[in-house]
Amino acid sequence: MNTIFLDSVNSTNSFAKEHCQEFDPHSVTCIIAQEQTAGRGRMNRKWHSPKGLNIYATFYFQLPLHALHLISIAHIMTLSVTTVLLQKNLQPQIKWPNDILIHQKKIAGVLCETAFHSDWVDIFLGVGINMNMKPHHLESIDQKATSLLLETNQPQNISDFIQKLQKQFSVDLQTFKQNGFTPFHAQFENLLAFKGETIRCFDGHREWVGICHSVTNDGQLNLFLPNHEIVTLRSGDLSYIK
Ligand code: BTN
Repeated sequence: MNTIFLDSVNSTNSFAKEHCQEFDPHSVTCIIAQEQTAGRGRMNRKWHSPKGLNIYATFYFQLPLHALHLISIAHIMTLSVTTVLLQKNLQPQIKWPNDILIHQKKIAGVLCETAFHSDWVDIFLGVGINMNMKPHHLESIDQKATSLLLETNQPQNISDFIQKLQKQFSVDLQTFKQNGFTPFHAQFENLLAFKGETIRCFDGHREWVGICHSVTNDGQLNLFLPNHEIVTLRSGDLSYIK
Protein backbone atom coordinates (compact mmCIF):
# COMPACT_ATOMS: atom_id res chain seq x y z
CA MET A 1 0.00 0.00 0.00
CA ASN A 2 1.27 3.48 -0.85
CA THR A 3 0.66 6.16 1.76
CA ILE A 4 0.56 9.93 1.24
CA PHE A 5 0.61 12.11 4.36
CA LEU A 6 -0.85 15.62 4.15
CA ASP A 7 -0.77 18.34 6.75
CA SER A 8 -3.97 20.07 5.75
CA VAL A 9 -6.41 19.44 2.90
CA ASN A 10 -10.00 20.33 2.05
CA SER A 11 -11.03 16.65 2.02
CA THR A 12 -8.89 13.52 1.52
CA ASN A 13 -11.63 12.14 -0.78
CA SER A 14 -11.55 15.29 -2.93
CA PHE A 15 -7.73 15.21 -3.00
CA ALA A 16 -7.75 11.56 -4.10
CA LYS A 17 -10.27 12.31 -6.87
CA GLU A 18 -8.14 15.18 -8.17
CA HIS A 19 -4.87 13.21 -8.09
CA CYS A 20 -5.83 9.58 -8.77
CA GLN A 21 -4.31 9.63 -12.28
CA GLU A 22 -0.92 10.01 -10.57
CA PHE A 23 -1.46 6.91 -8.38
CA ASP A 24 -0.45 3.30 -9.14
CA PRO A 25 -3.58 1.72 -10.66
CA HIS A 26 -2.51 -1.76 -9.50
CA SER A 27 -2.24 -1.08 -5.79
CA VAL A 28 -4.03 0.78 -3.00
CA THR A 29 -3.09 4.39 -2.28
CA CYS A 30 -3.97 5.75 1.14
CA ILE A 31 -4.18 9.51 1.68
CA ILE A 32 -4.04 10.61 5.28
CA ALA A 33 -4.45 14.18 6.55
CA GLN A 34 -3.85 15.83 9.90
CA GLU A 35 -6.87 18.06 9.31
CA GLN A 36 -9.60 18.66 6.75
CA THR A 37 -10.95 22.14 6.11
CA ALA A 38 -14.04 20.83 4.28
CA GLY A 39 -14.43 17.24 5.47
CA ARG A 40 -17.49 15.59 3.95
CA GLY A 41 -19.88 12.98 5.31
CA ARG A 42 -22.67 11.05 3.60
CA MET A 43 -25.84 12.85 2.52
CA ASN A 44 -23.97 16.15 2.05
CA ARG A 45 -23.19 16.36 5.74
CA LYS A 46 -20.08 18.01 7.10
CA TRP A 47 -17.42 15.83 8.76
CA HIS A 48 -15.90 17.61 11.74
CA SER A 49 -12.11 17.36 11.16
CA PRO A 50 -10.02 19.25 13.76
CA LYS A 51 -6.25 19.07 13.49
CA GLY A 52 -4.26 16.16 14.92
CA LEU A 53 -7.11 14.59 16.89
CA ASN A 54 -8.57 11.97 14.57
CA ILE A 55 -8.06 9.76 11.53
CA TYR A 56 -9.08 11.23 8.17
CA ALA A 57 -8.08 8.83 5.42
CA THR A 58 -9.07 7.87 1.88
CA PHE A 59 -8.19 4.53 0.31
CA TYR A 60 -8.04 4.71 -3.48
CA PHE A 61 -7.96 1.63 -5.72
CA GLN A 62 -9.50 0.28 -8.87
CA LEU A 63 -11.86 -2.65 -9.30
CA PRO A 64 -13.08 -4.33 -12.48
CA LEU A 65 -16.40 -2.94 -13.69
CA HIS A 66 -18.16 -6.21 -13.01
CA ALA A 67 -16.55 -6.99 -9.65
CA LEU A 68 -18.76 -9.21 -7.50
CA HIS A 69 -20.98 -7.33 -5.00
CA LEU A 70 -19.45 -3.95 -5.89
CA ILE A 71 -22.33 -2.19 -4.09
CA SER A 72 -21.04 -3.46 -0.75
CA ILE A 73 -17.43 -2.29 -1.06
CA ALA A 74 -17.94 0.36 1.67
CA HIS A 75 -19.03 -2.45 4.04
CA ILE A 76 -15.55 -3.96 3.72
CA MET A 77 -13.89 -0.83 5.11
CA THR A 78 -16.58 -0.65 7.80
CA LEU A 79 -15.72 -4.20 8.84
CA SER A 80 -11.96 -3.58 8.73
CA VAL A 81 -12.45 -0.70 11.19
CA THR A 82 -14.68 -2.82 13.45
CA THR A 83 -12.05 -5.59 13.45
CA VAL A 84 -9.41 -3.19 14.75
CA LEU A 85 -11.86 -1.87 17.36
CA LEU A 86 -12.66 -5.43 18.49
CA GLN A 87 -8.92 -6.09 18.91
CA LYS A 88 -8.97 -3.18 21.36
CA ASN A 89 -11.71 -4.95 23.33
CA LEU A 90 -14.35 -2.45 22.28
CA GLN A 91 -17.83 -3.54 21.19
CA PRO A 92 -18.65 -1.79 17.94
CA GLN A 93 -21.97 -2.06 16.14
CA ILE A 94 -22.79 -1.15 12.57
CA LYS A 95 -25.65 1.20 11.86
CA TRP A 96 -26.39 0.16 8.30
CA PRO A 97 -24.94 0.98 5.92
CA ASN A 98 -21.61 2.24 7.24
CA ASP A 99 -21.77 4.06 10.57
CA ILE A 100 -19.80 2.52 13.41
CA LEU A 101 -21.30 2.99 16.85
CA ILE A 102 -20.07 2.26 20.33
CA HIS A 103 -22.67 2.44 23.08
CA GLN A 104 -25.10 3.85 20.48
CA LYS A 105 -22.80 6.78 19.70
CA LYS A 106 -21.03 7.27 16.40
CA ILE A 107 -17.28 6.74 16.47
CA ALA A 108 -16.54 6.33 12.75
CA GLY A 109 -18.09 6.69 9.31
CA VAL A 110 -17.28 5.72 5.74
CA LEU A 111 -17.88 7.79 2.64
CA CYS A 112 -17.64 5.78 -0.59
CA GLU A 113 -17.38 7.60 -3.89
CA THR A 114 -16.90 5.99 -7.30
CA ALA A 115 -16.01 6.97 -10.87
CA PHE A 116 -17.00 4.51 -13.61
CA HIS A 117 -14.79 4.03 -16.68
CA SER A 118 -15.08 1.73 -19.71
CA ASP A 119 -13.79 -1.36 -17.89
CA TRP A 120 -12.85 -0.37 -14.35
CA VAL A 121 -14.19 1.62 -11.42
CA ASP A 122 -12.22 4.10 -9.33
CA ILE A 123 -13.09 3.59 -5.67
CA PHE A 124 -12.54 6.31 -3.09
CA LEU A 125 -13.20 4.91 0.37
CA GLY A 126 -13.01 7.72 2.90
CA VAL A 127 -12.95 6.87 6.57
CA GLY A 128 -13.17 9.17 9.55
CA ILE A 129 -12.47 7.77 13.03
CA ASN A 130 -12.85 9.85 16.18
CA MET A 131 -9.67 9.09 18.09
CA ASN A 132 -8.65 11.68 20.70
CA MET A 133 -11.67 13.98 20.81
CA LYS A 134 -12.74 15.14 24.25
CA PRO A 135 -16.35 15.99 25.19
CA HIS A 136 -15.99 19.67 24.26
CA HIS A 137 -14.76 18.70 20.75
CA LEU A 138 -17.82 16.50 20.26
CA GLU A 139 -20.30 19.25 21.18
CA SER A 140 -20.29 20.72 17.66
CA ILE A 141 -21.32 17.39 16.09
CA ASP A 142 -25.06 17.26 15.30
CA GLN A 143 -25.55 13.64 16.40
CA LYS A 144 -24.55 11.51 19.37
CA ALA A 145 -20.81 10.92 18.95
CA THR A 146 -17.93 9.45 20.89
CA SER A 147 -14.20 8.83 20.48
CA LEU A 148 -11.72 6.08 21.30
CA LEU A 149 -10.28 8.29 24.02
CA LEU A 150 -13.66 8.52 25.73
CA GLU A 151 -14.45 4.83 25.31
CA THR A 152 -11.08 3.57 26.61
CA ASN A 153 -10.06 6.43 28.93
CA GLN A 154 -6.66 6.27 27.25
CA PRO A 155 -4.99 8.62 24.78
CA GLN A 156 -4.81 6.90 21.40
CA ASN A 157 -1.85 6.39 19.11
CA ILE A 158 -3.14 7.47 15.71
CA SER A 159 -0.31 6.03 13.57
CA ASP A 160 -0.58 2.66 15.30
CA PHE A 161 -4.32 2.50 14.52
CA ILE A 162 -3.68 3.51 10.89
CA GLN A 163 -1.07 0.76 10.47
CA LYS A 164 -3.43 -1.86 11.89
CA LEU A 165 -6.26 -0.62 9.68
CA GLN A 166 -4.12 -0.64 6.53
CA LYS A 167 -3.05 -4.22 7.24
CA GLN A 168 -6.58 -5.39 7.97
CA PHE A 169 -8.06 -3.64 4.95
CA SER A 170 -5.42 -5.17 2.62
CA VAL A 171 -6.40 -8.65 3.81
CA ASP A 172 -10.14 -7.90 3.60
CA LEU A 173 -9.87 -6.37 0.13
CA GLN A 174 -8.09 -9.48 -1.16
CA THR A 175 -10.91 -11.67 0.17
CA PHE A 176 -13.52 -9.33 -1.33
CA LYS A 177 -11.81 -9.38 -4.74
CA GLN A 178 -11.95 -13.19 -4.74
CA ASN A 179 -15.35 -13.88 -3.18
CA GLY A 180 -17.30 -10.62 -2.88
CA PHE A 181 -19.29 -9.82 0.26
CA THR A 182 -20.41 -13.38 1.03
CA PRO A 183 -17.43 -14.24 3.35
CA PHE A 184 -18.22 -11.09 5.37
CA HIS A 185 -21.98 -11.52 5.51
CA ALA A 186 -22.26 -13.26 8.90
CA GLN A 187 -19.75 -10.93 10.55
CA PHE A 188 -21.62 -7.86 9.25
CA GLU A 189 -25.00 -9.15 10.37
CA ASN A 190 -23.67 -10.04 13.84
CA LEU A 191 -22.62 -6.43 14.32
CA LEU A 192 -25.83 -4.93 12.92
CA ALA A 193 -27.35 -2.30 15.24
CA PHE A 194 -31.15 -2.10 15.83
CA LYS A 195 -31.77 -5.67 14.65
CA GLY A 196 -35.40 -6.53 15.47
CA GLU A 197 -36.20 -2.91 16.29
CA THR A 198 -38.36 -0.41 14.46
CA ILE A 199 -36.38 2.02 12.36
CA ARG A 200 -36.96 4.72 9.80
CA CYS A 201 -34.94 4.61 6.60
CA PHE A 202 -34.77 7.24 3.88
CA ASP A 203 -33.58 5.59 0.65
CA GLY A 204 -33.07 8.81 -1.32
CA HIS A 205 -36.62 8.74 -2.73
CA ARG A 206 -38.95 7.89 0.13
CA GLU A 207 -39.01 7.08 3.78
CA TRP A 208 -39.66 3.53 4.98
CA VAL A 209 -40.64 2.54 8.49
CA GLY A 210 -40.22 -1.08 9.50
CA ILE A 211 -38.30 -3.59 11.57
CA CYS A 212 -34.58 -3.87 10.88
CA HIS A 213 -34.62 -7.52 9.79
CA SER A 214 -31.37 -8.69 8.17
CA VAL A 215 -28.73 -8.05 5.51
CA THR A 216 -28.64 -9.85 2.16
CA ASN A 217 -25.49 -11.69 1.10
CA ASP A 218 -24.53 -8.69 -1.04
CA GLY A 219 -24.97 -6.21 1.81
CA GLN A 220 -28.44 -4.74 1.26
CA LEU A 221 -30.84 -4.12 4.14
CA ASN A 222 -34.03 -6.13 4.54
CA LEU A 223 -36.74 -4.12 6.27
CA PHE A 224 -39.86 -5.93 7.52
CA LEU A 225 -42.84 -3.67 6.83
CA PRO A 226 -46.08 -3.39 8.85
CA ASN A 227 -47.93 -5.12 5.96
CA HIS A 228 -45.59 -8.13 6.48
CA GLU A 229 -43.75 -7.54 3.21
CA ILE A 230 -39.98 -7.21 3.09
CA VAL A 231 -38.36 -4.34 1.25
CA THR A 232 -34.66 -4.63 0.31
CA LEU A 233 -32.76 -1.35 0.29
CA ARG A 234 -29.48 -0.74 -1.56
CA SER A 235 -28.58 2.44 0.32
CA GLY A 236 -30.13 4.85 2.72
CA ASP A 237 -30.00 6.84 5.89
CA LEU A 238 -31.34 5.16 8.94
CA SER A 239 -32.71 6.44 12.23
CA TYR A 240 -33.98 4.64 15.26
CA ILE A 241 -37.54 5.09 16.50
CA LYS A 242 -37.79 4.90 20.28
C1 BTN B 1 -20.25 9.61 7.24
O1 BTN B 1 -20.42 8.92 8.23
O2 BTN B 1 -21.12 10.44 6.89
C2 BTN B 1 -18.99 9.45 6.44
C3 BTN B 1 -17.85 10.23 7.02
C4 BTN B 1 -16.58 10.10 6.23
C5 BTN B 1 -15.52 11.05 6.69
C6 BTN B 1 -14.22 10.79 6.00
S1 BTN B 1 -12.86 11.67 6.73
C7 BTN B 1 -11.84 11.22 5.39
C8 BTN B 1 -12.68 11.30 4.13
N1 BTN B 1 -12.67 12.64 3.59
C9 BTN B 1 -13.85 13.24 3.68
O3 BTN B 1 -14.09 14.40 3.31
N2 BTN B 1 -14.74 12.41 4.20
C10 BTN B 1 -14.16 11.12 4.52
